[in-house]
Amino acid sequence: MDTEKTAVITGANSGIGFATARLLSEKGYRVFIVGRDAQAIRQAANTLECDCILADLADTANIRHIVEPFQDLGLDVLVNNAGIGEFMLLEDLRLENITRHFTVNVYSPLLLIQGLLPALAQRKGSITNVSSVITTRNTGGFSAYTASKGALESVTRCLAVELAPRQIRVNAVCPGAVDTPMLDKSKIPAELLPKMKEHLMSTIPLQRKALPGEIAAAIYAQLENPYVTGAIWHVDGGVGA
Ligand SMILES: NC(=O)c1ccc[n+]([C@@H]2O[C@H](COP(=O)([O-])OP(=O)(O)OC[C@H]3O[C@@H](n4cnc5c(N)ncnc54)[C@H](OP(=O)(O)O)[C@@H]3O)[C@@H](O)[C@H]2O)c1
Repeated sequence: MDTEKTAVITGANSGIGFATARLLSEKGYRVFIVGRDAQAIRQAANTLECDCILADLADTANIRHIVEPFQDLGLDVLVNNAGIGEFMLLEDLRLENITRHFTVNVYSPLLLIQGLLPALAQRKGSITNVSSVITTRNTGGFSAYTASKGALESVTRCLAVELAPRQIRVNAVCPGAVDTPMLDKSKIPAELLPKMKEHLMSTIPLQRKALPGEIAAAIYAQLENPYVTGAIWHVDGGVGA
């Protein structure tokens, strides 16, 4: 039997996913990073010297591309990190927008866990879902994102109990503000952005954003501790305090 530890990390061409992939590679894992942009994910895989899988998680049919390589290979770690979070005031919100958030942030992670279940069960694997502090500390304007991350935390708690008899652990990490491209992709109107950034920074007791590596370290601590399951860890510089 292949004893090399394996890890799948979604949305790992940048930010928290990339930092987690780097950390797990350094710790000796064989890492498979997942991304939707062929060039970006290959470039990240080249930098990290790891494997990559191309899959756009906005379409759950693509989950099979991630599951296939693990038919015969056990899986030790799954990090459901890929996520979208777009600003949209209630008046402008459309069902397509809510559906897109739920597809990327909830349906795909849930179906990915289902697809990888035999591989995770083989290795008594560990799953971390990346949520957000926004589920408990809100700014407004992100109802679809907030709802989807809240659902992801509920899924985390449910599966922690459901999969515990198979010794599969399920946890979540909730970052506060992190220094990644996420905010720039959030479609906050240009006229609101400076004020929102200022407000965001004023709410952080540690007075700075997290580095992606600091969130990766929390994910690693969760997966390394065999007694941690069903945990929702806030890594937010004190925002939740
Ligand atoms: N940064 C923060 O302040 C913050 C705070 C709380 C929670 N989070 C959460 O942390 C996670 C990682 O975000 P990040 O901050 O590291 O930002 P990021 O660097 O933009 O990472 C997000 C990743 O998700 C990928 N992704 C988005 N849609 C996808 C799709 N349809 N299919 C596959 N991959 C997709 C992105 O790919 P592309 O590069 O192709 O877009 C990117 O690799 C997210 O779940 C986010 O909600 C971030």
